[in-house]
Amino acid sequence: MSSRGLILAIESSCDETAAAVVERGSRTLASVVASQIPTHARYGGVVPELASREHLRAVVPVVRAALDEAGVTFGDLDALAVTSGPGLAGALLVGISYAKALSFARGIPLIAVNHLEGHIHAVLLNQREMALAAGEPDPADEPALALVVSGGHTHLYLAQPAHNSWTYKLVGRTLDDAAGEAFDKVAKLLGLGYPGGPWIDALARFGNPQAVPFAFSQIKTKLHLGGKAPRTKAARTAPIAALDPHFLFSFSGIKTAVLRYVELNGLRAEAQARAVLTLANPKPPQTREAALELCPQPVLDLVASFQHAVVGDLMKKTFAAAEALGARRILVTGGVAANRELRTRLTAEAQRRGIAAAFPTTALSTDNAAMIGAAAWPRFLAGEFAAADLSADPALALGV
Ligand code: KG4
Ligand code: ZN
Repeated sequence: MSSRGLILAIESSCDETAAAVVERGSRTLASVVASQIPTHARYGGVVPELASREHLRAVVPVVRAALDEAGVTFGDLDALAVTSGPGLAGALLVGISYAKALSFARGIPLIAVNHLEGHIHAVLLNQREMALAAGEPDPADEPALALVVSGGHTHLYLAQPAHNSWTYKLVGRTLDDAAGEAFDKVAKLLGLGYPGGPWIDALARFGNPQAVPFAFSQIKTKLHLGGKAPRTKAARTAPIAALDPHFLFSFSGIKTAVLRYVELNGLRAEAQARAVLTLANPKPPQTREAALELCPQPVLDLVASFQHAVVGDLMKKTFAAAEALGARRILVTGGVAANRELRTRLTAEAQRRGIAAAFPTTALSTDNAAMIGAAAWPRFLAGEFAAADLSADPALALGV
């Protein structure tokens, strides 16, 4: 190994092509993300074939940009890391094929990383970088309850350090839609831009969160699934029989409730007009005046109430799990961790309970490759390299 411990990481599991150079899992020398949002925005969701095509176009320039920004060459690298799943098969394959070819051609070992483990390490990386900036030693690795909340996942894990490495135990998860998916679907039906999370986050500030009383009921797994894994895109990776129903999420109901509210209150026609407006101007409004120009008050109230309910449910189950497992530390990560209401309310409640809560920066919350480089570091130290036949695993699970 060279003295630097440099890993070039590549991430292409969904709609961002990303590359990063990370030193010893604790210092990001470069992190480049090429977003495909403009490609998918007009369809209101990720189109898998288009995603693969865009990754093919972007992967070489993105890797070059990361190396240039870090001021390193292939010869300086100690390892490559790539996301092997979960995600879109065709999208994952672009990153994996490229990383395997590079590994073979340059003789650099390759490490396969689970995207969800990457999200958890985004928080740990962020904490190490903050300590470094403050001239403090690396924070000690301690057990934590991790809420991974994104467009594809809403999963709770107990993450435990084990000899330079980490183990994960699945504690809870969604039975159907992921929280980010609910944000995206609700935004779509209200005629707002894609992805929906940042739009709802921006608009919710101007609405009354108590206006529409959305409620989540306690999930009865035995009745509705007989303990088996539900057959949905977001949640097909493991049986749920062993999980406490108090830590299970379900976000498809609230999406339907919003749809019903929109129809009952005649908000649909306006939503169609808004869709045209937001395509022309793809940034969420930041002032009350601009928000009101786009949405009447009842829509702002609906958006605020939806977000308030989702955040409340995420908090309720996360704190219930933390309490049951005796976790003194909560890590929140994934695209929805960028949500301002979630950050504020969860941080305040954690303080009230005397629990440490950490979120990554907004850039590290959404998909990026720095988190993949950070998660690869313990595997590098343990000599856990990918086999030559590494392939994409779209339903790759984390932990047991
Ligand atoms: O982690 P991520 O970039 O990709 C996946 O692995 O899914 O997460 C993307 C998701 C999208 O559903 C997006 O709407 C949501 O994260 N998101 C947000 C916010 N920013 C992104 N949701 C709520 N509030 C936000 N500020
Ligand atoms: Zn993600």
